[in-house]
Amino acid sequence: MIRRNRILRANPAIRAMVAETILRPSDFIAPLFIVEGNNVKEEIISMPGYFRYSLDLIVTEVKELWSLGVKSVLLFVMVPDNLKDNKGTEAVNPDGLMQRSIKAIKAAVPGMVVMTDVALDPYSIHGHDGIVEGEQIVNDATVEVLTRMSLSHAQAGADFVAPSDMMDGRILAIRNILEENGFVNTGIMAYSAKYASCFYGPFRDALDSAPGFGDKKTYQMDYANSTEAILETQQDIEQGADIVMVKPALAYLDIIRLLKDNVHVPISAYHVSGEYAMIKAAAQKGWLDENKTILETLTSIKRAGASLIATYFAKDAAKLLQ
Ligand code: PBG
Repeated sequence: MIRRNRILRANPAIRAMVAETILRPSDFIAPLFIVEGNNVKEEIISMPGYFRYSLDLIVTEVKELWSLGVKSVLLFVMVPDNLKDNKGTEAVNPDGLMQRSIKAIKAAVPGMVVMTDVALDPYSIHGHDGIVEGEQIVNDATVEVLTRMSLSHAQAGADFVAPSDMMDGRILAIRNILEENGFVNTGIMAYSAKYASCFYGPFRDALDSAPGFGDKKTYQMDYANSTEAILETQQDIEQGADIVMVKPALAYLDIIRLLKDNVHVPISAYHVSGEYAMIKAAAQKGWLDENKTILETLTSIKRAGASLIATYFAKDAAKLLQ
């Protein structure tokens, strides 16, 4: 025998020497759910161990993430029913919860890279990512609101806006409005290959944002397809996207790798709420070792080609890596 492959697996030191993929806390983007109020910490039923926080407690959370080496947060807000409509009025309110959250986080931890979700679903009486007419989600009118929403996030101090809506043409429109208003340093993380996925279920519980009718298949991608992921992503890059995203992550590792081999901007992957819930549920039953599953899963997503991973395990994984 000339080649004994087990030599390079013989002990932890050798394995560490030849490891190709090393997770770091700075790989993670921590999604945060924010609610109105003071001293509010509510567990999301379908996401055990994950919470909605009021702004005062979010600031504490962000400080802890920063101290663990996490460099980025992705903000989502829960909007009370009386502020929801069909045109995103509250989404562009300069004093809205999102805009106040951006300011508070940047004031408390200036180095933290603040990314914001741009889509209408949390603000929509229909729970859809865009403006609804009849049963249609209208593209261009939605894009117009998303540009103003992005601008208001930039004005509040967001470092990156993250359009998660999958409307056509929104990246160029957002880049243009940012340029016109002098926000030349505000970046765009585009959800480029975002699939219509059942794995978003727990997130919709977290924000009370489930679609009131139909589903999101006329704008999010069909999970049967991979070539259109390249098309969507190349278009977003041509329109000015700085970072592109694949979502969900674990069932879409092939898409992450496909993009890694085809595009030349950083790729982020969103390890979504349903993926979190699956690990938690199996761990609670004692069927999986939670910490080992977290590290193996996140390492696999990075190995597939993601340079950034949005994950509800950001804090846990950062602690495990200390
Ligand atoms: C909304 C949005 C969703 C997620 C992020 N932004 C839900 C959806 O598209 O229905 C899902 C994130 C997750 O499941 O963790 N535009």
